[in-house]
Amino acid sequence: MTAPYPLEGDLGEILVTAEQIKTRVDELGAQIADDMAGKTPLLVGVLKGSVIFVSDLMRSIHGPVDIDFMAVSSYGNSTESSGVVKIIKDLDASIEGRDVILCEDIIDSGLTMQYLYEHLSNQSPASLRTCSLLVREGRTDPAVSVDYVGFELPPAFVIGYGLDAKHKYRNLPYIGTYTGD
Ligand code: PRP
Repeated sequence: MTAPYPLEGDLGEILVTAEQIKTRVDELGAQIADDMAGKTPLLVGVLKGSVIFVSDLMRSIHGPVDIDFMAVSSYGNSTESSGVVKIIKDLDASIEGRDVILCEDIIDSGLTMQYLYEHLSNQSPASLRTCSLLVREGRTDPAVSVDYVGFELPPAFVIGYGLDAKHKYRNLPYIGTYTGD
């Protein structure tokens, strides 16, 4: 697939094509709709990376669905999670009694998901599940299991479909390796 705009040598290999993403997101949406039959799941997206995934995922759920977003920042080096998460935008409304699905674009160390899972589980949701488009292969810290996984990825820095490098490339339709500095 050709690049949709000049990438200045920052794109290496395309790991997941736009077609593969659409097929898998549709499968996840169908699975969620099935699992949540008779309920209205609340998708909680973690800004900013999950925004494209969540907007596609909600459209692939053929049934009632609601969304909300949180924004967090981890202290320390921006390319490595420090494990300390600061909430900079919390949910707009209470999740008490709601069927919540916490949605990430990528689970790398798993520390962000672990922190947010604990934060939300303390707010009395009826149920709390986890979903991530991408999960690192060989993750050895299953403190939080991931109920809905899009793809497992090798340990490379990836961009596209919501994921950025230095605030660029979130709008690429595919996921590829970043070969910039
Ligand atoms: C990414 C991703 C997750 C987190 C995963 O966010 O969206 O929130 O890192 O890392 P972890 O599993 O090691 O905790 P990032 O900090 O890049 O912010 P962004 O979504 O705004 O790009």
